[in-house]
Amino acid sequence: MDKQNAAVTWWVDNKMFDEVDRIRQKIQPPDPDSWEKQMQVVRVFDELIYNTDRNRGNLVITKDWQIWMIDHSRAFRTHKTLLDPKSLAQCDRKLLLRIRELDREILRQRLEKYLTSAELDGILARRDKIIKFFDDQIAEKGEAAVLFDLASVRK
Ligand SMILES: Nc1ncnc2c1ncn2[C@@H]1O[C@H](COP(=O)(O)OP(=O)(O)O)[C@@H](O)[C@H]1O
Ligand SMILES: [Mg+2]
Repeated sequence: MDKQNAAVTWWVDNKMFDEVDRIRQKIQPPDPDSWEKQMQVVRVFDELIYNTDRNRGNLVITKDWQIWMIDHSRAFRTHKTLLDPKSLAQCDRKLLLRIRELDREILRQRLEKYLTSAELDGILARRDKIIKFFDDQIAEKGEAAVLFDLASVRK
């Protein structure tokens, strides 16, 4: 069978609005705690992938008030520093665990078709910085002040 390159689009169903519209219409999230935790996940993920295009149009909000990250066409830079470390405050426990587990071999297996070696090095260097940031925060403030479980606040 002939193999050809193809593109896949995963459309987010039940879209309510994007973050641009939400701000414009001044609509407050019904559960600010869940909202803030979801945004923290967005920030951690954007640091890991060094996403320079997290504008509000790239956050889609569904009717259940879940935030969906879309449009990652300007990410996976080779920088070994964080983009905006001041944006980090708290982290989902499971996400941090999964970030800790990332190593070169796992990244290579999953991503070598898509990313260069320098891009993988960038992820690993930023992973180390993210982990150090949260470990320092935990040492200073205690785990309960830094880590949360997003699954438990999602309906
Ligand atoms: N998977 C998707 N599900 C729902 N809406 C989407 C999806 N992808 C894009 N959109 C809508 O289309 C807009 C533009 O898409 P995006 O991928 O961000 O393109 P651009 O590169 O032009 O910014 C988004 O702001 C969003 O409102
Ligand atoms: Mg976009």
